[in-house]
Amino acid sequence: MTPFESSRQIFPGGFTIIGTGRLGASLAMRLHNKGYVIRSLYNRSLATCERIAGLTETEIFGTFPATPTDLGDVVFLCLPDDQIAPFAKKMGPLKKSVAWVHTSGATPAEVLKPLSTDGSGIASMHPVQTFTIKNRETAFNQCFVTLQGDPDLCGKLKKVVEAIGARPLLVDRRQKTAIHLAAVFVCNYMAPLFYASQELLKDNGVDVRSRDLFGPMVRQTVEALLNHSPAEVLTGPVVRGDVGTIDQHLDILKDSPKWDTLYRQLGKATLSLARKIEERDSSSDGELNSRFKRI
Ligand SMILES: NC(=O)c1ccc[n+]([C@@H]2O[C@H](COP(=O)([O-])OP(=O)(O)OC[C@H]3O[C@@H](n4cnc5c(N)ncnc54)[C@H](OP(=O)(O)O)[C@@H]3O)[C@@H](O)[C@H]2O)c1
Repeated sequence: MTPFESSRQIFPGGFTIIGTGRLGASLAMRLHNKGYVIRSLYNRSLATCERIAGLTETEIFGTFPATPTDLGDVVFLCLPDDQIAPFAKKMGPLKKSVAWVHTSGATPAEVLKPLSTDGSGIASMHPVQTFTIKNRETAFNQCFVTLQGDPDLCGKLKKVVEAIGARPLLVDRRQKTAIHLAAVFVCNYMAPLFYASQELLKDNGVDVRSRDLFGPMVRQTVEALLNHSPAEVLTGPVVRGDVGTIDQHLDILKDSPKWDTLYRQLGKATLSLARKIEERDSSSDGELNSRFKRI
């Protein structure tokens, strides 16, 4: 028996997915394509659910609540974050013993407690990836999936995550939140930085979109950051100690004050990163620090 075959036997009753949106549909299709049984699918709107049921050969589908016997061994709640806790409270414990798992990065497994009073297990299973309707076939490939909650259930889910081609990462509740926070820095906060860049071009009469002007440079930078440590790829006026350039930036920011504080705070963070570089000329650090402190 291969490891994949044995992992399918862990949950012989198959899986139920509630919420067949971006992630729920991708998960259903990935599990199905890897030979797992999708016992049933439920969604708020029937049309989406019916389509995914067709693609995954799932005969039982509809709008929740379901007949308990129609549920698989594990029920994945792929609902919007703020609907998971209300759903758990509203449904309460069901008559059938099933494991409950949600897929939110920001929500701990414990919000599912009202659903599980018989020790059948609760967990969160968060794929650290972006799922759209365009990348259903590939999105799970090699992406990390954090698992938090009941250890026994997480141990079983770990095998399923491996079988669908992703990388399981067992975490505790605080680590789960820390991962979400860290993701906000590295991904989410890129959008406002692009926004700041676009606004600064506009405020100064440069009639080119930021993403066009800086696209090639951003691609190079991201590529470098994905292959080296942050200190290794750091360039720019801070690491060079170009105080005069920083002063010119700060002068322009007088006319765009909403970005001034952010610039200085990121400057301070950049300086502390630059200080990690050995054999760097640090003679301007005091002056740089005084510029960034002045908020
Ligand atoms: N998409 C991602 O990139 C991603 C990545 C990692 C984790 N997640 C997590 O996965 C979860 C789902 O996110 P998503 O992006 O897949 O959201 P989504 O595309 O908005 O899908 C949510 C689905 O839940 C359904 N739904 C809402 N309330 C319901 C209810 N009470 N009963 C049954 N179905 C209900 C919606 O039905 P309708 O069709 O009627 O709207 C929709 O199909 C979230 O916790 C999110 O944080 C998402």
